Amino acid sequence: MKTGERILVVGATSAIAQEAIRIWAGQGARLFLAGRDAGKLEVVSADAKARGGSTKVAVVEDVTSVTNLSMMVDSAWKAWGGLDGVLVAHGWLPNQREAQDDPLAVRQCLRINGESVCEILTLLAPRFAKQRSGWMAAISSVAGDRGRAAMYVYGAAKAVVSHFMSGLRQRLEGTGVRVIDIRPGPVDTPMTEGLKMPLVAAAEPVARRIVRACAKSNGVVYVPWFWRFIMLILTHVPEPIWVKMKI
Ligand SMILES: NC(=O)c1ccc[n+]([C@@H]2O[C@H](COP(=O)([O-])OP(=O)(O)OC[C@H]3O[C@@H](n4cnc5c(N)ncnc54)[C@H](OP(=O)(O)O)[C@@H]3O)[C@@H](O)[C@H]2O)c1
Repeated sequence: MKTGERILVVGATSAIAQEAIRIWAGQGARLFLAGRDAGKLEVVSADAKARGGSTKVAVVEDVTSVTNLSMMVDSAWKAWGGLDGVLVAHGWLPNQREAQDDPLAVRQCLRINGESVCEILTLLAPRFAKQRSGWMAAISSVAGDRGRAAMYVYGAAKAVVSHFMSGLRQRLEGTGVRVIDIRPGPVDTPMTEGLKMPLVAAAEPVARRIVRACAKSNGVVYVPWFWRFIMLILTHVPEPIWVKMKI
């Protein structure tokens, strides 16, 4: 990474984002940290400064408000005189059983995990394209690769993000801007506390992989790497068999 890289992190209080911020701070990055909780943001910011980073913070009260997002992007762009990259990390995992029968929960899930991410990328894409450099990363999920009864409300929102980034990457090809779709498997964070999940990764190595991807990748990055092969198999299971599988 270039020293002093200017990075916007949305959802900076997420456990995965915090680990990435620690690494970037150690590399001397200039960070713009956005989240909804001022107190938590200050803790993350102080930690980043102690590790050698420079930080500015912004409270975004409502990520489903385009006005809020637009103000955040403006402030972040101005704070360091432009940006080199963005990591969009906020997310909400609803209880599937409750959400599947509640259209308002479905809407909220799609807004928080899907629409707001696409809107942030939409606000930033022309700025990065104009400067002909930069990277845009968002944390999607393996849950977006195929609908499962156990997690399809959340998974559908993540599929929106992955689909959107695929098109955005194609649009920006040749402009010098990279679009990185990060698809972790289960990670041990507050989001998954109390859930029984297979092959759970720790947040720190996941963040290390994300930081490496942000430095050079352009495409889909499964974290850990073996999820690419698991999902390749699962997405090729014929639908009549898939419907009967309890996974
Ligand atoms: N953990 C996993 O197994 C896993 C797997 C694949 C993908 N992911 C994705 O990885 C990203 C980071 O999640 P994490 O695992 O690090 O979980 P986490 O520690 O629980 O962080 C969730 C983040 O999202 C923010 N957030 C939650 N609801 C929000 C809302 N309504 N409006 C704005 N911000 C909201 C939280 O803010 P507060 O701190 O203020 O609560 C926090 O910053 C998410 O996009 C998640 O979907 C996670």
